[in-house]
Amino acid sequence: MPDALPSEVTVRAPAKINLHLGVGPVRPDGFHPLATAYQAISLFSTVTARPADDWSVTCSAGEGIDVTGVPLDDTNLALRAARLLAEHAGLDHRVALHLDKGIPVAGGLAGGSADGAAALLACDRLWGLGAPMGTLLELAAHLGSDVPFGLVGGSASGHGRGELVSPMADTGRYDWVVLTFDEGMSTPAVYADFDALHEGNGVADPEIPDALVKALAAGDVRALARAVGNDLQPSSLRLRPFLAEPLRAGLDASALAGLVSGSGPTCLFLCEDADHATRVAGALSAYGRAALAHGPVAGATVL
Ligand code: C5P
Repeated sequence: MPDALPSEVTVRAPAKINLHLGVGPVRPDGFHPLATAYQAISLFSTVTARPADDWSVTCSAGEGIDVTGVPLDDTNLALRAARLLAEHAGLDHRVALHLDKGIPVAGGLAGGSADGAAALLACDRLWGLGAPMGTLLELAAHLGSDVPFGLVGGSASGHGRGELVSPMADTGRYDWVVLTFDEGMSTPAVYADFDALHEGNGVADPEIPDALVKALAAGDVRALARAVGNDLQPSSLRLRPFLAEPLRAGLDASALAGLVSGSGPTCLFLCEDADHATRVAGALSAYGRAALAHGPVAGATVL
């Protein structure tokens, strides 16, 4: 006899950072070709799915995380993920989703994408589908450029518009200070500024630097610090000039590297180890909320 289906399933999915974000010229579909190295870090969104008579989504959040900007209607990414999976599987099932968000909203950390990845896996298990990873990745790519990485986690390359993800060899543990701010930033606005900055300059085909690939394979934090980079950072700084100050303060406080996370405004500071990160965080708390996180961590995981 098959196992009974669970009455609820909870899945947690990690925040992503871009160790390197190479951005090419805008494509006809409005997206930008990327060559990026993702890393999943230890800030998480947790999604619980329960069978229900109709679709719904509710939301709670960790301390200091403002969820007023999270839509609780049909546009919610976790809800879209659940509906997409039901449609794909030809099921008439509905779920009530609860999101417990530990990843700041609109911060450049793919918090919404983590919700989407977690909801896909949670509903797959709730409905006993056992869909192959390849199927979940395809559905994830429909939902957003960063959603497939939320399923894969670890350290991984991202190509296409970011949705084509392959694991990268990584033997290290990296300690980060993650500096977040009250006000989020619109990803399309940052890409639009990138286009304005590069107009006519024919941005070269982006690539992940060899030095970064080698640094991860060797688990060499200092070599990684020299190889990180973000092509969107000049635009994030143009839209939020105040970010220059904490980026400088982090380096003055001995962080090995400081960079903007994705489209921003979150700033990341790479440190030697957890003790070093604690000291660097102390120097940054005047500028925003300075959290400690480490990577790489696993992608979406059933709890
Ligand atoms: O894929 P996702 O929905 O997360 O993308 C949000 C927005 O970010 C897109 O509408 C687009 O403006 C921008 N984007 C882009 N190129 C990418 C990924 C995202 O221009 N590779």
